[in-house]
Amino acid sequence: MKQTVTFNLNGEPVSVEIEPHLTLLQLLRDKMELTGTKEGCGMGECGACTVLLDGKTINSCIFPAMEVDGKNVMTIEGLTDAQGNLHPIQKAFIEYGAVQCGFCTPGMVLSAKALLDESPKPTEEEIRHGIAGNLCRCTGYIQIIQAIKAASGQ
Ligand code: FES
Ligand code: FES
Repeated sequence: MKQTVTFNLNGEPVSVEIEPHLTLLQLLRDKMELTGTKEGCGMGECGACTVLLDGKTINSCIFPAMEVDGKNVMTIEGLTDAQGNLHPIQKAFIEYGAVQCGFCTPGMVLSAKALLDESPKPTEEEIRHGIAGNLCRCTGYIQIIQAIKAASGQ
């Protein structure tokens, strides 16, 4: 039997009827058609499915969709401003060549956002720690770290 989940998605209130067993990733991709969030491992290991829940990173592939009721979810689609301009972190990723195949990028960018919101001038160690849950199979870590550092104005 379906249940209603009501939450804020990228700043807009939404209310959706879903099967209670759905993961947040399935809700976002299959019901809300927000395909920026990627499915890699599907087991909470790779970070490709990272989204922000009340500003903190979560792996949406293992997060029950019903548990976002009353909360704020941000996906990569919510990071641009009202005019569609890229967020400074996204611009830095482009500028520093931190995107190769791009599969890890939405999760990396959102982890970087959570980090910079909490620690606006992170050390390199803090940056490495901040993206530790996000795997890049193209091994572009150096450029990713440089991009996050640049986005923090360092
Ligand atoms: S797809 Fe969720 S952690 Fe890998
Ligand atoms: S850019 Fe390809 S997985 Fe990171």
